[in-house]
Amino acid sequence: MIKEKKPPTNNNNSIDFQSSPILSLELQKQIAVAVRQLQAGETVAFPTETVYGLGADISIPSAIRQIYEIKTRPTSHPLIVHFADISQLQHWAKEIPKSAWKLASHFWPGPLTLILKRSQHVPQNVTGGQNTVGLRIPAHPVALALLNALGAEKALAAPSANRFGRLSPTTAAHVQDELGDKVQMVLDGGTCQVGLESTIVSFDNEDATVLRPGGIPISALEAVLNNKITLSNNRKSIVRAPGTLASHYAPATPLEVCPTQTLWQRTHELEAQNLRAAVISWSVPTSVHITNNNIVQFSMPQEPTTYGNQLYATLRQFDKKGFDRLLIEAPPGDPAWLAITDRLQRACQKKS
Ligand code: TXA
Ligand code: MG
Repeated sequence: MIKEKKPPTNNNNSIDFQSSPILSLELQKQIAVAVRQLQAGETVAFPTETVYGLGADISIPSAIRQIYEIKTRPTSHPLIVHFADISQLQHWAKEIPKSAWKLASHFWPGPLTLILKRSQHVPQNVTGGQNTVGLRIPAHPVALALLNALGAEKALAAPSANRFGRLSPTTAAHVQDELGDKVQMVLDGGTCQVGLESTIVSFDNEDATVLRPGGIPISALEAVLNNKITLSNNRKSIVRAPGTLASHYAPATPLEVCPTQTLWQRTHELEAQNLRAAVISWSVPTSVHITNNNIVQFSMPQEPTTYGNQLYATLRQFDKKGFDRLLIEAPPGDPAWLAITDRLQRACQKKS
């Protein structure tokens, strides 16, 4: 029987995550099945408010091995550990800085991952051998129901449910597309509300650093800590330095990010080379008619939250259409676009 859930507290001020967990009877039944699968050491893909995760019980080594195999992910890459209730934080982490407590109590459940010293309850095969662990309470009713049903002192390792280096899935259909029958079960919780991965924060004593920009803006973290937060060096640059970053969050079609000023010039260059290109832009409010059959223009939202929500689905959609190139207009420089800029930057790196 699935425990009835209290709505997750939404204290993220401006961000209203899916906070009314009224789950259909069918979904409740599926969650019960998912719990049995997970207890038997199998993997289950489940929705979170950011992207779909590929879950496994962290206490079952063979289940964790399966995650790495299914994703073809190197075992040195640590997984994020998801759990249901902040009262369990000290079970999974130790020597927790005050600033981490502040962020956790303000933003959880929500798109924030905290990197903390791992307790002895977190096995090293989950953390890629490191003594730290990434922890998060997701704000999705299905994820929370699943984690609650698993019980106290249980947690799910869940990387994004895509093959290593590829686009994260934001619908159950995307998970099927990515992993096919390699994944034993997919819980369908609809389209993910945020659409980009969680913001990852690490700590040096009380000083917080953002390792990956994501669903929670840095300004919101700073407002809670009343302190400046550093952005990790390898996430800062808007200037492209090809080859310096491993390709990640990437469609199979080569992707190019181009400043607004030169977007059309670049389009004409591709056209002159007889290449088929999809031009994905935000500054053109509605799709324009282009006479050349090789070029298609598609307009994205001009507001970062909705743009972020649609980004992966849009790239996935165009990736299937046989274009030679996806030409993406560089997002505005405003900090609200940081996570989007970061993902696009990584998506256009050369494949290693
Ligand atoms: O929104 C999300 O965070 C999604 C959903 C499913 O929760 N998960 C996700 O997981 O994006 P994944 O595995 O695709 O990305 C996890 C990132 C990796 O870049 C990993 O290196 C970093 O988290 N990470 C995890 N544990 C870490 C640790 N102990 N130290 C540093 N980075 C860590
Ligand atoms: Mg991922």
